[in-house]
Amino acid sequence: MNGVRNSPAPEAFSRKIQAMQNVTQLVKELQEMRDQGFLSDALLRHAVKKVKRASDKYDWVGVYLLNEAGDELWLHNYVGSPTEHSRIPVGSGVCGTAVEEKTNQNIPDVSAVENYLACNPEVQSELVVLIRAGDEIFGQIDIDSDEKKAFSDEDEAAVQAVADKLAEQIAAERR
Ligand code: SME
Repeated sequence: MNGVRNSPAPEAFSRKIQAMQNVTQLVKELQEMRDQGFLSDALLRHAVKKVKRASDKYDWVGVYLLNEAGDELWLHNYVGSPTEHSRIPVGSGVCGTAVEEKTNQNIPDVSAVENYLACNPEVQSELVVLIRAGDEIFGQIDIDSDEKKAFSDEDEAAVQAVADKLAEQIAAERR
């Protein structure tokens, strides 16, 4: 009975499944693009557009890449409201903290983060998933939501699958 009582509403559940299916499909598309010879620039743009469409909770989606010096994140491309944060020092905000601590950040309530950098006042929660090959960090997928606690472990795992596919291509280009 417990399981039933704690289950999400059917509508929310199917929304979640749909989002996961969209992301699985996207990973396939990214591999197809690699097979066809597309470079990381095209893959990064495609990934941002498609992740944005995967869930109506994803209000802003962008990719930041770590600069060569390894001390700043540079905004590569995004879908959503314009942001003034085109460059973020490592250690600053949710994005810079992810790189400094080498860990993804799933922030249920951005108002609780002391060094949070606001993209726009509507944002309530944020997910940052690193694009990495082992210890080497290439950048990150950053997602903002206007809902609190928008991101589940499943969201993070799905976005990680996309980030891992992007990392494969970036690593191949840097060899
Ligand atoms: N909120 C981020 C900055 C990036 S914008 O949300 C697009 C942060 O705190 O690092």
